[in-house]
This record gives sequence, structure tokens and C-alpha cells, in this order.
Amino acid sequence: MAYVITIANQKGGVAKTTTVASVCGALAARGLRVLAVDLDSQADLTLALGASPGGLHGSMADVLLNGASLESILVETAVPKLHLAPSTSEMDKVERFLPMRSDYVNALRSALAVGDLPRAYDVVLLDCPPFLGAVTTSAMHAAQLLVIPTQPEYFSAHALRNMMSAIRNVRSQGNPDLVYRILITMQDRRNRIHRTLSEQIQATFGEGLLQTVIEVDTKLRESAIAGLPVNYYNVKTRSTQQYDNLAQELAQYVPSKAVQPA
Ligand SMILES: Nc1ncnc2c1ncn2[C@@H]1O[C@H](COP(=O)(O)OP(=O)(O)O)[C@@H](O)[C@H]1O
Ligand SMILES: [Mg+2]
Repeated sequence: MAYVITIANQKGGVAKTTTVASVCGALAARGLRVLAVDLDSQADLTLALGASPGGLHGSMADVLLNGASLESILVETAVPKLHLAPSTSEMDKVERFLPMRSDYVNALRSALAVGDLPRAYDVVLLDCPPFLGAVTTSAMHAAQLLVIPTQPEYFSAHALRNMMSAIRNVRSQGNPDLVYRILITMQDRRNRIHRTLSEQIQATFGEGLLQTVIEVDTKLRESAIAGLPVNYYNVKTRSTQQYDNLAQELAQYVPSKAVQPA
């Protein structure tokens, strides 16, 4: 059965989308069958994985509002074994209309359970919009693991507190086994405040913090523009190595799925 990882933080610009694209690339390179799901109306992930909005035959909005099957909207990417469930600006409507459905928190979980989907992929990654609305909530209900990217910045603490309270709600409302892990992104090792705040996050969250840290790397911006995960854009850059380390760390959570040597 596919293992579902949701990447969320109510804060924007913390590398949610970059992390989804890069981890998907790293897992696919290691031989896993990966599905990337774009849930943000900005469609950044859709673009970062090279899909052109004009060439789509449906989006996650059709799945969540119009009853289209997830399988019917999938597109292939330039990366072998990596498929994409794309988004469009229509996802804005989902945020408004999804809560009118009864049991809407399970909408994504149900969409991922249809037909052969659970057997077609080893890992599914969900990229969320930058707020704790209906879409992010249903993505948290669909997941076994929630990864919360955060920058080591003072103003990130508030967002982390809100995420913790959202996790408590999701656990008490139907997904009791949801595990979370925090990921430090865009760290600048030379920046003393970054180092201090990273240590504080470590002290506060202990094993809730992933060991891998993603540092600043401009190649991540370039790869998104090129429409490729960073490891397919520049195999030598340090974020390729760091995201591969992260993929290995996350793969330890995927049941009975030994990660292939790259
Ligand atoms: N490690 C990094 N180093 C440098 N730039 C990064 C890094 N991670 C992400 N970025 C850039 O920061 C911006 C925000 O990242 P993005 O993944 O879109 O965040 P989110 O999805 O949380 O809004 C993008 O322009 C992205 O290319
Ligand atoms: Mg994003």
C-alpha cells in the first residue's frame, strides 16, 4: 500500500513545494514508484515538475469537487517512476466548497484509495497551500507522516505552535496514528541566529525533528524553473545530496520498502 506523506506549514515560502519536488526526485531515482500531488492553487509544484497548465486533462480540483478519478488526471513527468496529480487556480474553489461536503476531511484519503492507486505507488507526497484550511486538513487526514518544513527564523515559532494544535485535532478526529517530523530548510550555516534557532527547535522537538537539514542552495530555484527535481537538474549540487539524505531518512518510515542503492 502506498505510504502517504503530507508536506504542510501554514507559513508560505518555507520550501514545502521545493521539498516535495526534490524528495520525489530522490525517491524515484532510488527506484520507488512515486506520486506527487499538487494541492495549492498557485500550482508551483505542477510547474516545478515540468507540466504545462495548457496540456492538462484535469486537476485536483476536478477530483475534489467534480468527482473525477485521481487516475484520470495523472500526468507523467520527465522523471521515470514519478507521476504528478496537477493543480490549477481552480483549487481556490475547493477551499470554499469542500467544507460543504459531509465528511470532507476524508475526501483526499478516499480519492487516493480508488482502484489500483494504492498498489501503483510506493510513496505519495502531498504539497499543501500555505494555510491551515480545508485542503491542508484533509491532506493531514490522508497521511501517515506529516513533514513540516520550517526556516530557522524567529517568526516561524508561531506557525509551528499552530501546526501542533492542528495535529492534535487531526489525531482526535479520525487519524490517531499521524506522525509528524519537522524539517529545517534554507539554513545558512554562517548565520549565528540560524544556528541558535536550529538548536532551540532541536531542544523543543527532540526526535520530532528530522536529522537532515537543508541548506541554502540557489540551484533549487534554477531547477524549479527548469521543471526538474534538483537531482535531475544538477546531480553534484549540495541540495541534491541533502535531499537524498532526507529521502533515505523518510524511507525508513515506509513500511517493508527497502530503499534501493542509488
Ligand atoms: N534550500 C533553499 N535554498 C535556496 N532557495 C530555496 C531553498 N528552498 C526553497 N527555495 C526557494 O524559496 C522559495 C520558496 O520555496 P517554496 O518551495 O516555493 O516554498 P513554499 O512551497 O513553502 O511556499 C522558492 O523560490 C524556492 O525556489
Ligand atoms: Mg508551495
